[in-house]
Amino acid sequence: LLADTLNEIFIDNNSEQSPPSTTPHQRYTLRDAMVTPATKPEFGDYQCNAAMSLSKKLGYKNPRECAQQIVNALQPKLDGIMELPLEVAGPGFINLKLDCAYLSKALGEMAADSAGRLAVPLTDNKKKVVVDFSSPNIAKEMHVGHLRSTIIGDTLSNVLTFAGHDVLRLNHVGDWGTQFGMLVEHLRDEYPEALLNNNQDVDLGDLVTLYKAAKKRFDVDEEFKVRAREGVVKLQAGDAESLAAWESLCRASRVEYQKIYDRLNIVGLHERGESFYNPFLEGVVTELQNLGLAVESEGATAVFLEGYANRDGSPLPMLVRKSDGGFNYATTDLAAVRHRVQFDPNEGGEKADRVLYVTDAGQSQHFEMVFAAAKKAGFVPDTVSLEHVPFGLVQGEDGKKFATRSGDTVKLKDLLDEAVRIAGEDIKSRMADHPGESELTDALSDVAKTVGIGAVKYADLSMNRESNYKFSYGRMLSLNGNTAPYMLYAYARICGIVRKATGQSEENKIIWPEAASTILITHDSEKQLVRNLVKLPDILSEVEMELYPNRLCDYLFETSQKFNQVIMKLPSVAILALTAGTAAAFAPVAQIRSSSSSTSSSHLRAVSK
Ligand code: ARG
Repeated sequence: LLADTLNEIFIDNNSEQSPPSTTPHQRYTLRDAMVTPATKPEFGDYQCNAAMSLSKKLGYKNPRECAQQIVNALQPKLDGIMELPLEVAGPGFINLKLDCAYLSKALGEMAADSAGRLAVPLTDNKKKVVVDFSSPNIAKEMHVGHLRSTIIGDTLSNVLTFAGHDVLRLNHVGDWGTQFGMLVEHLRDEYPEALLNNNQDVDLGDLVTLYKAAKKRFDVDEEFKVRAREGVVKLQAGDAESLAAWESLCRASRVEYQKIYDRLNIVGLHERGESFYNPFLEGVVTELQNLGLAVESEGATAVFLEGYANRDGSPLPMLVRKSDGGFNYATTDLAAVRHRVQFDPNEGGEKADRVLYVTDAGQSQHFEMVFAAAKKAGFVPDTVSLEHVPFGLVQGEDGKKFATRSGDTVKLKDLLDEAVRIAGEDIKSRMADHPGESELTDALSDVAKTVGIGAVKYADLSMNRESNYKFSYGRMLSLNGNTAPYMLYAYARICGIVRKATGQSEENKIIWPEAASTILITHDSEKQLVRNLVKLPDILSEVEMELYPNRLCDYLFETSQKFNQVIMKLPSVAILALTAGTAAAFAPVAQIRSSSSSTSSSHLRAVSK
């Protein structure tokens, strides 16, 4: 609407005056016509800064004067949408405040959407998006960094899918590399049955212990070291026994990380490990060499890119082949990029328009260099966007490395168990008024699971992902503040109201009441809530573009606070009218809730008690 208006009032009939590079109606750019969220709620819902940038260009005395002209033209079109008269504020901002009539209509549409999408439109620019996340390493411990990647990557995939994109979730597991020579040779001695090519699971015990044992031999035993080095070559050459041993390791690891995925309710994640790209690595290096991008450097093969230097100022190489002929992490990522964006379906490519890599910020430079080299080599069409989605470190409460008291790395299983245990203890402490019941019933154990796992997930999502994040059970399980228990509590309360309003039974999912034909917004607390609710599409598209899940968490937290305001300030009957809309906006929380397989709304009611 704003673009149209600018068009009408600023169109230059005498096109000669327009700069030669623009057509007459392009005297403003799309940027000028941008409407952004208001910087403070007092200012309204949105603001338009067009006058600030246009005023001078169009020869106004000052931006306020220009703003007034825009306001005059815009006002009649916004009747019934924004509160009128529109206000020019400060040096020339136009503040826009949603009008009650519009709010009740928009909320009515959200509540009436039978497709369960809350009237959030599907994207009109559907893309194929590959999201590379989780990606633990075979035979090594899946650590808190992988946990963050898993939680953030999964949530972003959900948001992109909801927007209507075609999303492929890829688990780029580290299942290839020199360490497998050592591991396979260790299995040859200790678990010979793992070398039989019969696809049978072999109990390899604790994989981390196995890895440590193999590594120790490698470090102290010269003969073993030589065998391990030869072992890599054998494995790479496709030796049947070595491959069988390697597969045993992969299978055993897969079982382990699947347990974590099950608890976190991660579904639809396709494993496509580094080994998948092995056949393409040679070709990638040859191609880079032919293009003159890869050169010999101290016996290895490296790509040098402009703008990348070591601390001492010498050019920083990106290695693509080691001096012993083995390939590097970057080589695999270059092959993977090419595969993911490859246009010709006959070549098996994914034809992705957008590829996201969710890893710790420590890998930022790696991805920058991989993306730059891939573009230079012509592996990636200009239309494709490659995006690293970095996140900060997980730290202990003291700000130091996250570890157990004895300094060991924390196992993810233990971490999740502990969160569930603490949630359970909290529930038990509330059972004081139920003498005789000292153990949690099955239903209450389910609540503990929902709250505990939800707390771990939500704590991660609600932080700006780029900051380092201090892991604290106390904070994430607190009933106050922007936490999963608080959100679940709000959700449970809302469900309770809907149940009362509709006379629904205890179990099963909530069926929202038929939307009222008109939603009346009379009290200010209602208005504040509805103003928030109708912004759901804005928030979702922001997350879709900028990939910060905490924006959605902030939004939900604000929504629940505003909902509580309504509850405190309004007679209960009026609350019912609003509940449908609010509860629906909580769908993402319901997603967390479903992390625990058998939770139903009655269990959540137990939480709310
Ligand atoms: N396996 C790697 C790690 O544990 C993460 C892989 C991320 N994805 C990628 N395409 N490089 O750090």
